[in-house]
Amino acid sequence: MKNAAILTYGCQMNVNESAKIKKILKNMGYNITEDISKADAIFLNTCTVREGAAIQIYGKLADLKIIKEKRGTIIGITGCFAQEQGEELAKKFPIIDIVMGNQNIGKIPSAIEKIESGDFKHIIYTGEEDELPPRLDAEFDSKRTASIPITYGCNNFCTYCIVPYVRGRERSVPMAQILDEVKGFVEKDYKEIMLLGQNVNSYGNDLKTKENFATLLEEICKIEGEFLVRFVSPHPKDFGDDVIDVIAKNEKIARSLHIPVQAGSTKILELMNRKYTKEKYLKLVEKIKIKIPGVALTTDIIVGFPNENEEDFLDTLDIVDKVKFDIAFMFMYSSRKGTAAAKMDGQLDQEVKKERLKRLIDLQNQKSKETSIVYEGKIVRVLVDGPSKKNKEVLSGRTSTNKVVIFTGDKELEGTFVNVKINECRTWSLYGEIIN
Ligand code: SAH
Ligand code: SF4
Ligand code: F3S
Repeated sequence: MKNAAILTYGCQMNVNESAKIKKILKNMGYNITEDISKADAIFLNTCTVREGAAIQIYGKLADLKIIKEKRGTIIGITGCFAQEQGEELAKKFPIIDIVMGNQNIGKIPSAIEKIESGDFKHIIYTGEEDELPPRLDAEFDSKRTASIPITYGCNNFCTYCIVPYVRGRERSVPMAQILDEVKGFVEKDYKEIMLLGQNVNSYGNDLKTKENFATLLEEICKIEGEFLVRFVSPHPKDFGDDVIDVIAKNEKIARSLHIPVQAGSTKILELMNRKYTKEKYLKLVEKIKIKIPGVALTTDIIVGFPNENEEDFLDTLDIVDKVKFDIAFMFMYSSRKGTAAAKMDGQLDQEVKKERLKRLIDLQNQKSKETSIVYEGKIVRVLVDGPSKKNKEVLSGRTSTNKVVIFTGDKELEGTFVNVKINECRTWSLYGEIIN
């Protein structure tokens, strides 16, 4: 039997598309392996959001060259870096057989066939980035968590961001199709449904019907069964009261919201083309906290955007201090070719970015700890993920607020909801015991 390996970089959208690539390769008769040295086909599903992502891929390609020389492995590059680079990538690295944007992954079988025929040097499919990709089955790593893209692409053009250039314009998946998929997953006993999009709360803007993100959430919650709905990412500028109200009245929607703030200074937010001010973001958070008690918030933050001075950076620290995010994904600004910010004056030195990132991480770590401590003595409902990765003797699960909870219990409980009393709170995990 032939083996195939898929290495995934980047965001949840790539994780979802890797699950589809996996299914396609399985249907072709490949056995999926994590051991790339034994693979007859290897797909790198790439990201290009920051410069580091590309450097990582170059490093990996050096390893793949050795494997290809030994086994004649077919090498495919999919994802945003492949979409951005196109044919150039295959020219630079002749070991690459297939270069493919992710809206084309349905063509993997024919691309492999063409390469195997020996008549083609490379297969390059990077067109159609403004089409709605065909629906494909996925093979998720988890039997409990399924993800569904609800929009593809992005229209926001935040000035630092390359995503709109590699993922095309925003296209919404018809609501009936999303509802069918959710129903299908719930029937198959999935307990957590993750809705994906670059800006989920602009869902429906391009549809001719009145459907929007709030109505989509409402319809999903009407589906019978015990499951949780999560989504990434909403944009603060589009976070309307209708969405907040639907979340507030539906316990099926997880009490954990990822609301990327990016920066605290209104001047920087404007340069980023984010279309909200520091005050508006804080007001939004305040409203959410009042209407959805106990909600946990997570965010993305960039430090060192062009023209960010110390005062601007202090605004970012101030937001982090005031909002108290459970988790923040914190990045140094990375210049991306073709974006508006790459051409701005006032680019900052790496040292300044590093120093600010460190200060930000220090503050955020304190805040994360504060968000954990409040669980002490509480009883929480936990979706059991299975044996903990670090210690197989205990179970690991997550609350609706996405806090990791560690406790002892039968492995059979995997994929069910249990009540756990929290006895100890550490920064990244809570420890407790099952109660009935
Ligand atoms: N569409 C999503 C995610 C975009 S990419 C959203 O808007 O939230 C994920 C994160 O990467 C962004 O939220 C941002 O914080 C970060 N990012 C994007 N471009 C970047 C860049 N050029 N440099 C550093 N971080 C960047
Ligand atoms: Fe990038 Fe902004 Fe679109 Fe997110 S909303 S993908 S950060 S352009
Ligand atoms: Fe990266 Fe593309 Fe996602 S650039 S963050 S994999 S949309």
